[in-house]
Amino acid sequence: MARIPQSFIDELVSRVDIVEVIDARVPLKKHGREFTACCPFHNEKTPSFTVSPSKQFYHCFGCGAHGTAVGFLMEYEHLEFPEAVRQLAEQVGMEVPVESGGESQSMRAPLYEALHNAQRFFHEQLKQSPAAVDYLKRRGVSGEIAAEFGIGFAPAAWDHLLKAIGKDAAAQKHLLDAGLILSGEGGRWRDRFRERVMFPIRDTRGRIIGFGGRVIGNEEPKYLNSPETPLFHKGRELYGLYEARQALRDIPRLLVVEGYMDVVALHQHDLRYAVATLGTATTPEHLQKLFRVTPEVVFCFDGDRAGRAAAWRALENALPEARDGRQLKFLFLPEGEDPDTLVRKEGREAFEARLKTAVPLSVFLLDSLSAQTDLSSLDGRARLVELARPHLGKLPAGVYREMLAAELARRAQVNPEKLTMLNQAARRKVPSSQDAGPGRTALTGPVRRAIALLLHRPTLAALAGNPADLADTQLRGVETLKTLLEFAQGHPHVTKAGLLEHWRDTETGEHLMKLAQAELVLPEEALESEFQAVIASVAGRRDEQRLAALLEASRQRPLASEEKAELGQLIKAGRATPGVDKP
Ligand code: UTP
Ligand code: MN
Repeated sequence: MARIPQSFIDELVSRVDIVEVIDARVPLKKHGREFTACCPFHNEKTPSFTVSPSKQFYHCFGCGAHGTAVGFLMEYEHLEFPEAVRQLAEQVGMEVPVESGGESQSMRAPLYEALHNAQRFFHEQLKQSPAAVDYLKRRGVSGEIAAEFGIGFAPAAWDHLLKAIGKDAAAQKHLLDAGLILSGEGGRWRDRFRERVMFPIRDTRGRIIGFGGRVIGNEEPKYLNSPETPLFHKGRELYGLYEARQALRDIPRLLVVEGYMDVVALHQHDLRYAVATLGTATTPEHLQKLFRVTPEVVFCFDGDRAGRAAAWRALENALPEARDGRQLKFLFLPEGEDPDTLVRKEGREAFEARLKTAVPLSVFLLDSLSAQTDLSSLDGRARLVELARPHLGKLPAGVYREMLAAELARRAQVNPEKLTMLNQAARRKVPSSQDAGPGRTALTGPVRRAIALLLHRPTLAALAGNPADLADTQLRGVETLKTLLEFAQGHPHVTKAGLLEHWRDTETGEHLMKLAQAELVLPEEALESEFQAVIASVAGRRDEQRLAALLEASRQRPLASEEKAELGQLIKAGRATPGVDKP
């Protein structure tokens, strides 16, 4: 996918006004220096949603929702990042540059068109094919839902589509690139999909990017999907997601099922939150897409062995995406049933009742592993810890991982602290009390405090002196602070939103987003002196560390003359800490 250059995003964020963006969707009232409204992301009667024009940031004190103009559009309109950027750019009259990734926008446009025309053709053909209509009727598909999903039929001939919309060489090239035709005997083109019920696959903007086609008889393969094309990547797309988003403003959960027909049947029974992967295991990319629009994802599988194995694969792929505030669950259906057969048999309510029996990821993980060991023996419990260790290591740091570790400790009957030590080796990052969860963020330590202050008022950066001076401090987060200071000093008009968007989707950005919610509990007048104090405190820590290092060195070897001078200065500056031996 083409990347939007960061410089463009920086510029865009500095031009857009978040108040305008939000006010056009949720009317705002001026309240002092800020604007308020009832929060669009949760139900409330008194407004706790505030928008700050100076920070270009919104925050709801009720539900904790917060972010920039880009983030607001993504949440409110259920857009993906590039689309939110495109809409904002349009609003302020900027054109999103397309970075040369080979496939430029102009090369893709005719492919969308070819797919769109193909869908219209297939839909027309369905009306003229009693056998296909009959098939859909037999499977209980209503005319309404067939129309909504754009279901069609590809006739049996070799070149029906080709004749209809592939008249000249250019058109044929587009059909080929869109995956609709292939080269047959004697190098002649022929239709890829023949005598199949056609399910158009749409992207999040509703554009058709590919098809799935099902035979109406018993031929093999039962389903044929579009090949990978510049527009269609199986591991990224979810069938039904566009339709779900069209049907629902707030998506309480998304149910991930296996098949096209499952999605269609569930939607027809007004279970509008069903989506399907396209014959592949769920990828982390799928999950990111899903969690962008809903807080809860439920995987649905057959109750048989194959279903359990597939669920386990989904679990493994899901672990890195299992963060605080995201719910991941597993639903197992009775053997021999799929959502399509089940919802037609039992109806909507019974199916929703089943959803309540879905097990959380943590339970599925620990139950599956526990089943492989004998928890009544010490050995077995040690083995459970051993089995769980790599899985825990895949979880991002945070409250969720802590809770899972605590549950593991309980089941294995080991002391949770000991378990933390055991697991540290497998972790990318050691958790600490500083890894505060969602909502309130602990502002302990000068580095975090400095960052929070900077986000609140980026112009404070000018008071920090040369960021490089902080470089060799061994405090957590000091690198982030340094980078942030450098950027803010180089961009004196940057807002909180500008900083957040500059580091979106990076580790730094995640860190910043957490600190962005922190409450400073300080009057505006006190910000400067507080900032200077925390920076001095960071510098102080650096001096302490330097002093300790020099003292340690002096015990091992004679110090060089500059080192002695430095040591003398540090001691005079009075930064010696208790516990460090005086020479
Ligand atoms: P299933 O074989 O479970 O079929 O395939 P289904 O969805 O229940 O199909 P119906 O009810 O018989 O129509 C599940 C999914 O796996 C992919 C498709 O995405 C299908 O919806 N699949 C299956 C293929 O891609 N190719 C195949 O040959 C079969
Ligand atoms: Mn089925």
